[in-house]
Amino acid sequence: MTRLRLAILISGRGSNMEALLRAARDPAYPAEPVLVLSNRPDAAGLQFAEAAGVAALAIDHKTYGKDREAFEFHVDSTLRGAGVEVIALAGFMRVLTPWFVKRWEGRMINIHPSLLPKYKGLDTHQRALDAGDTEAGCTVHWVSAGVDEGEIIAQARVPILPGDTAETLAARTLPAEHKLYPEALAKACAVIAAR
Ligand code: GRF
Repeated sequence: MTRLRLAILISGRGSNMEALLRAARDPAYPAEPVLVLSNRPDAAGLQFAEAAGVAALAIDHKTYGKDREAFEFHVDSTLRGAGVEVIALAGFMRVLTPWFVKRWEGRMINIHPSLLPKYKGLDTHQRALDAGDTEAGCTVHWVSAGVDEGEIIAQARVPILPGDTAETLAARTLPAEHKLYPEALAKACAVIAAR
């Protein structure tokens, strides 16, 4: 089996990245992590990736000021230089331009902490609570031009319990993300490999 060369893009803690790296320790997993890239040099996830033996680097978006495309051009050329075939966004907090999205169309997925199409964007858990929802969850989807709008690959649900706050709900959702993301990435790899 050929494993697809995987890049994971992060901005912070990187717990979903950890879940992917753990899953990929199995030689039968269909993706091989070749690069972890952060737009923030202080992202905690970079250290974990390095310790796990995966190339990890930061491309600081602040260096580029308002020039999003110059930042993305550097990211894109780095990914291509590493022979990346599939990208998993894992808490990557930069909105990507249509240029970058188009370039990686059908090869880039994202995890979002809500049951899409509900609650695109930020503050998903608080918005679910404010709406009086009885369940929340997470979604892995293909990345398309609209933020959090691409075709859904997989979802997991968690209950909302009386007394929940955004924090307790996030804490309940996160382990579901860590289980869902490796499964969904494997599905995405199967789709890519079958093309
Ligand atoms: C996760 O909740 C993910 O769904 C969202 O940002 C958070 C990132 O957490 N996109 P981590 O960096 O993976 O720990």
